[in-house]
Amino acid sequence: MAVTIAPNQAIEVEMTEFLVIDREGNSHEVEGAEGASFMEAIRDAGIDEMLALCGGCLSCATCHVYVEEAAIGRLPAMSAEEDDLLDGSDHRTLLSRLACQIFLSAELSGLRIALAPED
Ligand code: FES
Repeated sequence: MAVTIAPNQAIEVEMTEFLVIDREGNSHEVEGAEGASFMEAIRDAGIDEMLALCGGCLSCATCHVYVEEAAIGRLPAMSAEEDDLLDGSDHRTLLSRLACQIFLSAELSGLRIALAPED
């Protein structure tokens, strides 16, 4: 079935805000549409330390971030592929995730994440 949208019909997009700490320790308030990856929202905010070289194809690990400890249990489980990629980092910790594999949602609003050092 085709969906028709009138030219002046507003489309509601829920936004999620979160905080990013860059490698110099500066904080950035970032906002992105629910369903987008944290990597996309960080990159779209102009934080160029987020290299994301593979564009989210789960092959580079240049989107490595640390998630605040209190929130780590609220994130979806890590896939074996994400786990394998993070194993290649010298900077992996228990708080490590790949930002292209976690997605904005109301439940994660206010999340604090820090960019991991470059490998
Ligand atoms: S952007 Fe390459 S693994 Fe996330």
